[in-house]
Parts: sequence; C-alpha cells; structure tokens
Amino acid sequence: MLPFLLRTGSGALAVLFQIFLNIHLASGQSCGCSSLIIPVHVDVLIPKDPADSFGGLKSNASDLRRLNETYDVFGVLCRPNTAPPGNPDAIQLLVHGFTYTNQYWSPPIEEFRNYSYTAFACDRGLSSLAIDLVGVGLSSRPTNASDVQYATNAAVLSQLARHLKTVPILPRIQPFKKVIAIGHSAGSATLTYGAIAEGRQSPFDGLILTGNLNIPPGTLPSLPGVMSARDDTPLRWGGLDPDYITTNNRSLFYPANPTSFSPRMLTFDAFTKDVGPISSQLQGSVTTLASEYSGPIAKVAGSEDQGFCAAEKCVDVAALYARERVFWPKARSFEVVVAQGSGHDLNLDFFAKGPFNTFVRLVEQFAGL
Ligand SMILES: *[C@@H]1O[C@H](CO)[C@@H](O)[C@H](O)[C@H]1NC(C)=O
Ligand SMILES: *[C@@H]1O[C@H](CO)[C@@H](O)[C@H](O)[C@H]1NC(C)=O
Ligand SMILES: *[C@@H]1O[C@H](CO)[C@@H](O)[C@H](O)[C@H]1NC(C)=O
Ligand SMILES: *[C@@H]1O[C@H](CO)[C@@H](O)[C@H](O)[C@H]1NC(C)=O
Ligand SMILES: *[C@@H]1O[C@H](CO)[C@@H](O)[C@H](O)[C@H]1NC(C)=O
Repeated sequence: MLPFLLRTGSGALAVLFQIFLNIHLASGQSCGCSSLIIPVHVDVLIPKDPADSFGGLKSNASDLRRLNETYDVFGVLCRPNTAPPGNPDAIQLLVHGFTYTNQYWSPPIEEFRNYSYTAFACDRGLSSLAIDLVGVGLSSRPTNASDVQYATNAAVLSQLARHLKTVPILPRIQPFKKVIAIGHSAGSATLTYGAIAEGRQSPFDGLILTGNLNIPPGTLPSLPGVMSARDDTPLRWGGLDPDYITTNNRSLFYPANPTSFSPRMLTFDAFTKDVGPISSQLQGSVTTLASEYSGPIAKVAGSEDQGFCAAEKCVDVAALYARERVFWPKARSFEVVVAQGSGHDLNLDFFAKGPFNTFVRLVEQFAGL
C-alpha cells in the first residue's frame, strides 16, 4: 500500500490512496489494477420525501431540497499492461446493483476469478473503473440514508464521468475521450435517472443497461427477505440508519434452474452482500419516464431473470424492443439483447461469457473502436 495525496492542476480530483494489485488472466496476459478513492462534489436537488416514487423527476421546487456535499467514491481502475496499452481513449464506468458492490464486476475469490468482467474486458484492451455507489461498500455512507437517492448517485456518476474526461485519474494517465457506462439492475436505474435528468447534457458516450427493464410499477416480483441492514447483521451494520436496507435472500437474482450456476455461488454471494438506501426500492418509477439522451443505448436482459423476465416477458424480443424503445426517442442507436440462459445477475452464472462478449462488442461500437 502506497499512501499519498495527489492534487491535480485543476484541483478537481484528488486520489487519496491507492493500492496496486495485479489480476493475472487465464491468457497469461496481465492487467494493472489500482484501488482509488475519488472525492466527488455533488450539488443537486433531491426529494424531501425519499418515498417519492419518481425520485423528484416530477416534483415541483417545494418538494425538493438541496444536497451540496462531497463524497469519497471508492473504485477499482483496471488497465491493460500490454504495450501499446489497450485503447487509451475509452473507459468503462461499471455500476453495480442493489446489495452489490464493485465486486459484482470482479468476484474477489480464486474459484470465481473467471467471472471477472473487468479481467475479460482488460484482456481485450478495454479499461474500466468499477465503483461503489455512495452509501455502499467503501464509498462514503451518509449518516442519514435519505441523502442517498437516485438523484444523488446519478449526479455522482455524471460528475465522475466528467472527471474521467478532464483530469488524469492517476499520474501518467491521460484523461479519457469517451466514457461508456455499464449498469446492472439498480445501477442501470441510476444511469437511467441521470439520462432523464440531463438528457443531451449527459457526459456519457453510451449506456449499456443490464438487468433492468421498463416494466409497469408494481408488476416486478418483490425481493424476499428485505429488511433494515442493522437487524440483518447487527455486528456489521448495527449502527446504521434503519433506512439502509439489505436482503437475506438473493436467490431471485439467479436462474430458477439450479444447474445454471455454481452451487457455491449463493454462499459466496451471501458473503459479499452489502446495503442500499430504502429509496432504491421506493423510487421504482424513475425508469418509466422518457429520456432526451441522444447517445447510443443498449439494454441487456437475461432470459431467465426471475424478476424482469418473469411471465415470458422476454420471449418475444421484438415486442420487448418496442416496449423499451419508446422511452429513448432521441437515442442515436438502440438495441435490446436477451441473453439466453442468463439470470438477473448476468455476470455470475454459467452463461456469463455470452453477456461478456455482448458488453465488449457494444463498448467497442459505442466508443468507435
Ligand atoms: C407542488 O406539488 C404538490 C403535490 O405534488 C402540490 O400539493 C403543490 O400545490 C405544488 N406546489 C406548487 C407551487 O405547484
Ligand atoms: C456548496 O459546497 C461547496 C463545497 O463544499 C461550498 O464551497 C459552497 O459554499 C456550498 N454552497 C452553498 C450554497 O452552501
Ligand atoms: C434525515 O434528513 C431528513 C432531511 O433533512 C430529515 O427530515 C430527517 O429527520 C433526517 N433523519 C434523521 C434520522 O436524522
Ligand atoms: C429464498 O427465496 C426464494 C424465493 O425467491 C425461496 O424459494 C427460497 O426458499 C428462499 N431461501 C431461503 C434460504 O429462505
Ligand atoms: C468459469 O469456469 C467454469 C469451470 O470451467 C465454467 O463452468 C464457467 O462457465 C466459467 N465462467 C465464465 C464466466 O466463463
């Protein structure tokens, strides 16, 4: 561990510490990864009521309050080591879903090393920054969970994307020309919120929204075992605001067929679970509004997603495309991919290579590589 404080020319970005580690890939190539803490300032209007189902997008000023804060965002930056190093101009910003962390994109244990999307992408020349959302993992966790809403984290992600395009994130790394975001589940909803709030001003050069479809509010099967994190695991989360929640059962995130994923995956999954703000469950209507976002978009769902693809919703892909397309009238391009066999957690079952190839293809397309 090499602690240091870096102040960049603009003063916009400070890296407070970094740890170098190496992920050695199956191919024998390697990828340099650094853990970073990036201070991100947000100045944003959020609903006074975290139960506002549209997360403030339909509110008038009297229903909103100003949040003017700087949060530390934890992230793992991975870049190809091989010379010439990958494509220096584009980076993927990877955004986890509810009760997950950055580790969704790279499970930190030997047995599941080949489920690392960051390693898969790095091996193909693509850099990535996988972050913990504010309130989660090693990022700042505001004392009051009501400060963490879709509006908050959407602003955090947009600010991060602007940093990546203007400031060297580490010494000797040029700012990136293109930032493509890949979200999973609530991470996709957060990116969607940002695309609605910012429209054409969005800093993202492409959005890949996985594990999240636009289905009418109230029709998504509710996640079992949701409770206050402090009641679920008092030793770890006993001091938290009760509006930080978690679940004691994430089996809905895997295909119903138990031969579709490793029998040890659920055990690993339980070890790595985290918390999320209650607003992430209460503001479910944020993705049911149209966006003026004008970049390219793709949505990727697992055919066996027990939530979003229940009741054969993803069987007729043309009909699914038509239902999704209407929310993105200005998108430069729009694509819907249904990954056959995959569950909600597309990265963590035996079918993951299919979605990984899809993500890389889309990133290369969106970045113009
Ligand atoms: C703001 O919206 C609330 C309900 O959403 C309504 O009661 C109130 O009258 C509105 N205020 C203004 C100034 O429009
Ligand atoms: C917002 O926060 C910034 C940085 O902490 C501070 O300089 C500024 O004065 C704040 N603005 C208001 C209106 O509080
Ligand atoms: C959290 O913040 C909100 C908005 O400022 C406030 O209404 C609420 O009382 C706070 N909750 C706690 C537990 O401090
Ligand atoms: C987890 O939830 C599923 C329903 O999604 C249920 O079938 C299963 O029995 C639950 N597992 C545990 C350990 O409670
Ligand atoms: C990882 O390897 C196992 C065992 O070879 C295989 O079943 C699984 O599909 C692989 N996962 C990925 C994402 O490639």
